[in-house]
Amino acid sequence: MSSEMQHIQWFPGHMTKTRRKIEEVLPIIDAVAEIVDARIPLSSRNPDLADIIKDKPLMILLNKCDMADPAQTALWIEHYKNQGIAAVPVDCKTGKGIGNFKEKIKDTLADKLEQYRAKGMVGKPLRVMVVGIPNVGKSTFINRIAGNNKAKAENRPGVTRGNQWVTIDKQLELLDTPGVLWPKFEDQTVGERLAFTGAVKDAVLDIELLAVRLIENLKESYPQLLTDRYNLTSLEDEPYDILCAIGKKRGMVIRGGQTDTERAAVMLLEEYRNCKIGRITLERVCDNA
Ligand code: G4P
Repeated sequence: MSSEMQHIQWFPGHMTKTRRKIEEVLPIIDAVAEIVDARIPLSSRNPDLADIIKDKPLMILLNKCDMADPAQTALWIEHYKNQGIAAVPVDCKTGKGIGNFKEKIKDTLADKLEQYRAKGMVGKPLRVMVVGIPNVGKSTFINRIAGNNKAKAENRPGVTRGNQWVTIDKQLELLDTPGVLWPKFEDQTVGERLAFTGAVKDAVLDIELLAVRLIENLKESYPQLLTDRYNLTSLEDEPYDILCAIGKKRGMVIRGGQTDTERAAVMLLEEYRNCKIGRITLERVCDNA
């Protein structure tokens, strides 16, 4: 990632503030639901979260699963399960998987509900903090799960002002992350993958370079989808030459017969983001080693 992006978007002070705010609310929540982007389940996480939430039960929502490779999503779910973490695929745009989330979180916290009952705290709802890096779909998720109840933001006595609580049903209340949770911006690959998905603005990046890197990634993990979409005969050329070939196929030619690679790059990224190339997951369970 360009150092520009770090300067524009990343201020270490933000994370320190968020960390403090999360630590303040930890004692009153029962679990954390982390939303990640199913297309990039590693890069769309906050690197400090595990350390901040310590032993609070964690659940993972693989959001935007409508755009991810279903076979890879299934492997990720299995992977988290093996780590003792409940994970569900969700598509917040249509609401698919939201019901599963409600069920799974109550399953995960069944002991807690039992404890509340045993202590006579009948009717005490489970309180779950929802976290996620910007653009991962947190607002869409909260609005979707709140459904017709209409997102009800409340301030609770004894809790820092401004915290947004949403009542889902008698057994479940959600707290929106107090603060902004950042990805691991200092890692170039992470920045690049976030840029592929559009989570980071293009304006601060070299669009052609980004497209070339995307081609490199697709060449490795989804060669067939790439050749099919752009009618390419082979992927043996250098990624930049492949970008030229893609542009040419789409008639993006400028004076002198050269390919308009900038236009081709914008088009390629847009098509990737709109799932026109296919359902693609750029991070595999084995990358997690
Ligand atoms: P945030 O609060 O975490 O920052 O993210 P937000 O909900 O604003 O979602 C960011 C973008 O991701 C939005 O698109 C939203 O519609 C989209 N999105 C969220 N969940 C899903 C999902 O499960 N599948 C798909 N395909 N998209 C999802 P946008 O382009 O910013 O806005 P719009 O297209 O909704 O107008």
